[in-house]
Amino acid sequence: MKHLIDIQDLSVEEIDELIKVANDIIANKEKYSPKCNGKKLATLFFEPSTRTRLSFEAAMLELGGSVLGFSESSSSSVSKGESVSDTIRVVGCYSDIIAMRHPKEGAPLVACQRSTVPIINAGDGGHNHPTQTLTDLLTISREKGRLNQMTIGLCGDLKFGRTVHSLINAMSRYQGIKFVLISPDELKIPDYVKTNVLDKLGIEYCETKDIEEYLPELDVLYMTRVQKERFFNEADYIRLKDYYILNKAKLEKAKKDLTILHPLPRVNEISTDVDDDPRAKYFEQALCGKYIRMALILKMLGIE
Ligand code: CP
Repeated sequence: MKHLIDIQDLSVEEIDELIKVANDIIANKEKYSPKCNGKKLATLFFEPSTRTRLSFEAAMLELGGSVLGFSESSSSSVSKGESVSDTIRVVGCYSDIIAMRHPKEGAPLVACQRSTVPIINAGDGGHNHPTQTLTDLLTISREKGRLNQMTIGLCGDLKFGRTVHSLINAMSRYQGIKFVLISPDELKIPDYVKTNVLDKLGIEYCETKDIEEYLPELDVLYMTRVQKERFFNEADYIRLKDYYILNKAKLEKAKKDLTILHPLPRVNEISTDVDDDPRAKYFEQALCGKYIRMALILKMLGIE
């Protein structure tokens, strides 16, 4: 039994295969509709979510399976003091696969050690979000026709933004990738990501506070929200929350075939006047999330 806790749990070949299956699902939806008949997905969300939980549930329903679970810890027995490990062992009696989100970094890793069914990390604190990364990779490959030879700008909260950490981990394994890391000083990418991934693999990157400095060179611009829920001090959040606001005027300097992504939810960091720009692909990205999760559920349940 294999779990998905970190994007590094998947080889590049496995990621490419998931993207291939997701594209086949998009092209042949009816072929996949009975694949998970009789199977159950449990979604255990100890932290709020719209896209991840609902796209997992839509994915399982479109594969012919069923879903159960909870969307806040207060409606589970964790609120009475039950441990995550015990919760997972019990839910494994009622389901075939579990997608779990938790505010504590490492909680899904602890959970999978006692689990009798495959566990998917649906986001753990400011750490990792591997299925968002699979979503991002499917979107980039569909928009660009490749996952190599490109310059990717990552902008916003690079400190607490778990989607950024997982995306750097994944894209660094493809050839010819350069990163432009755009953040205020307080929200720079953590040193462990630089040391363990960028420096270790010899990836070209630069850091800047200015979103416009490298904009003309970017093939992909990945905007992120300042992660309010990870701040200890509300005054710091208020000071930093509108540091970047991407708007139509700024985009005049960008490539005509730039792809603008955002894992969503968005707060103010992309002005709504960008939504109609053909380069804005964040809603297509949210849809890709359902298809890649369908491919992932099939793989983890061992269904052809
Ligand atoms: N992208 C993402 O994880 O969104 P949710 O928090 O709504 O699941």
